[in-house]
Amino acid sequence: MELLHLLLAFLLAAVSTVTADDDAFVGVNIGTDLSDLPHPTQVVALLKAQNIRHIRLYDADRGMLTSLANTGIQVIVSVPNEQLLGIGQSNATAAKWVSSNVVAYYPATNITGIAVGSDVLTTLPNAAPVLVNALRFIHSALVASNLDRQIKVSTPLSASIILDSFPPSQAFFNSSLKPVLVPMLSFLQSTGSYLMLNVYPYYDYMQSNGVIPLDYALFKPLLPTKEAVDANTLLHYTNVFDATVDAAYFAMASLNFTNIPVVVTESGWPSKGDSNEPDATIDNANTYNSNLIRRVLNKTGTPKHPGIAVSTYIYELYNEDMKSGPLSEKNWGLFDADGTPVYILRLIGSGLVLANDTTNQTYCTAKEGVDPKMLQAALDWACGAGKVDCSPLMQGETCYEPDTVVAHATYALNAYYQKMGRAPGTCDFKGVAAITTSDPSHGSCKFTGSLGMNGTSVNITAPSMNLTSSGSPAGHCCSSVSTSILFLIVPLVLSALFL
Ligand SMILES: *[C@@H]1O[C@H](CO)[C@@H](O)[C@H](O)[C@H]1NC(C)=O
Ligand SMILES: *[C@@H]1O[C@H](CO)[C@@H](O)[C@H](O)[C@H]1NC(C)=O
Ligand SMILES: *[C@@H]1O[C@H](CO)[C@@H](O)[C@H](O)[C@H]1NC(C)=O
Ligand SMILES: *[C@@H]1O[C@H](CO)[C@@H](O)[C@H](O)[C@H]1NC(C)=O
Ligand SMILES: *[C@@H]1O[C@H](CO)[C@@H](O)[C@H](O)[C@H]1NC(C)=O
Ligand SMILES: *[C@@H]1O[C@H](CO)[C@@H](O)[C@H](O)[C@H]1NC(C)=O
Ligand SMILES: *[C@@H]1O[C@H](CO)[C@@H](O)[C@H](O)[C@H]1NC(C)=O
Ligand SMILES: *[C@@H]1O[C@H](CO)[C@@H](O)[C@H](O)[C@H]1NC(C)=O
Ligand SMILES: *[C@@H]1O[C@H](CO)[C@@H](O)[C@H](O)[C@H]1NC(C)=O
Ligand SMILES: *[C@@H]1O[C@H](CO)[C@@H](O)[C@H](O)[C@H]1NC(C)=O
Repeated sequence: MELLHLLLAFLLAAVSTVTADDDAFVGVNIGTDLSDLPHPTQVVALLKAQNIRHIRLYDADRGMLTSLANTGIQVIVSVPNEQLLGIGQSNATAAKWVSSNVVAYYPATNITGIAVGSDVLTTLPNAAPVLVNALRFIHSALVASNLDRQIKVSTPLSASIILDSFPPSQAFFNSSLKPVLVPMLSFLQSTGSYLMLNVYPYYDYMQSNGVIPLDYALFKPLLPTKEAVDANTLLHYTNVFDATVDAAYFAMASLNFTNIPVVVTESGWPSKGDSNEPDATIDNANTYNSNLIRRVLNKTGTPKHPGIAVSTYIYELYNEDMKSGPLSEKNWGLFDADGTPVYILRLIGSGLVLANDTTNQTYCTAKEGVDPKMLQAALDWACGAGKVDCSPLMQGETCYEPDTVVAHATYALNAYYQKMGRAPGTCDFKGVAAITTSDPSHGSCKFTGSLGMNGTSVNITAPSMNLTSSGSPAGHCCSSVSTSILFLIVPLVLSALFL
């Protein structure tokens, strides 16, 4: 019997045709339940400073979509759950939504996906019957605008609809959702879209009553004897994330869908929690997110599909202090509202996205020994026509000392260079300036673009402003994970299997 299972599993794996997305990426979700929500231009400045190229919005906020224009950042916009019923019941309403929230901004704003609703099957069951129609109507509207190849339509699902997810090879979807899932998967397949999956090892761990070891949830190295082995496939699982994603692949395969890629639309770990959430710590959040990002970017893949990276949107960019629920709910963010990192990700060597590797940070400085008149002219130009904020150079301000032309010019020319996005040719000033990699900040005088004492943050503090519609759904907390998801840790029993 076991051997038969094994063969079946290998056959399944062989015919499965999930293909690699050439460019695996890490994106971020941008929830907006913040009391001092940064202005969209500040949000975009933070994304640029952190080299974040992919984001998901929980709505289609006008301010954000406008600010994202011409940045090259790829954006998933969302149909909020409140609008789902209307859109799922009316082709015309869907067409109108696409026209005013997508077509109006494209192509200046590179919208690449539409998330129709969020966790609909688990949080809004009464909308389930219209979900597939909503997907179809939105897609038809894209077809009508000739945007269906550039913009994919899908709907983020909670991993909790996958039952018995260990061993992954035996995972299946909650069968009462089949009437929605089968046409949905057909839709995703026929439109070349992908499955949007929210994966929260934190909740699996919290709800497992000690069955799931913390290290297994955090991608920490496990002793080989502690790895979870799928007895049907003999695949070894070293973390909850991989097991969940593979469970999704197998659950789709059990409905005969073997070529729909998975993109993880939410995953993360809270950095702070109530007293009954002792594992919501800065260190665990850093470990989880750093490991996750590294794995995505180096295309580790999952045991079922090694080398096929699962692009993932981290939940989330900002701590959302207005979220209700336990303290952890307010602390999933990588940054505070003012752009200060909550912790510095441990990411040296994995590229630039969110990296703490600052070796490529460059500054513009005034050259020593050049004609002071030329320097003064460059300084005057930067503070005037160049529109640099030179107020820190005023007497009594942080960068007044040392009061020399070279020091003041360095401050102003660098501010201009950073403001221009360190574009080639913006640090020349007729030959009196040059690019350097060492941060010219001194004392309390922090230069623009400076990584400061301890952060990857740039100062993007701005007056808070309310966005037109507020974003992320409440009640993201505690997505009910079926207790049957037990990530049983079985010792190696290879020999027994082959008997
Ligand atoms: C959007 O991004 C994708 C991926 O980089 C790119 O292929 C496409 O040309 C971009 N579209 C626009 C309109 O910028
Ligand atoms: C919905 O509208 C589009 C045009 O916007 C049309 O192509 C499509 O056939 C319509 N679908 C239905 C189900 O009416
Ligand atoms: C399966 O889905 C139905 C409908 O949403 C729900 O009532 C039921 O509790 C789910 N079953 C499990 C085991 O999660
Ligand atoms: C999957 O395909 C097989 C072979 O074509 C068929 O026997 C089976 O009934 C299908 N299963 C589902 C859930 O459609
Ligand atoms: C990718 O990252 C994982 C997890 O950090 C690590 O175990 C693996 O060795 C890395 N692979 C490569 C090719 O860098
Ligand atoms: C940055 O340094 C300040 C002062 O040393 C400290 O209070 C703060 O926690 C640090 N922030 C981070 C993200 O490490
Ligand atoms: C950056 O990441 C590296 C590698 O994980 C780590 O050793 C270093 O301490 C990190 N730097 C900061 C400032 O956290
Ligand atoms: C820094 O720049 C060099 C040269 O452009 C590049 O090879 C290297 O990968 C960059 N470092 C990081 C961390 O991106
Ligand atoms: C950031 O800029 C704001 C407004 O210009 C200023 O009030 C604040 O002190 C700055 N913060 C830091 C850490 O430099
Ligand atoms: C932001 O919204 C809150 C609550 O709706 C309101 O009290 C406040 O006045 C608004 N602030 C601005 C600047 O519009």
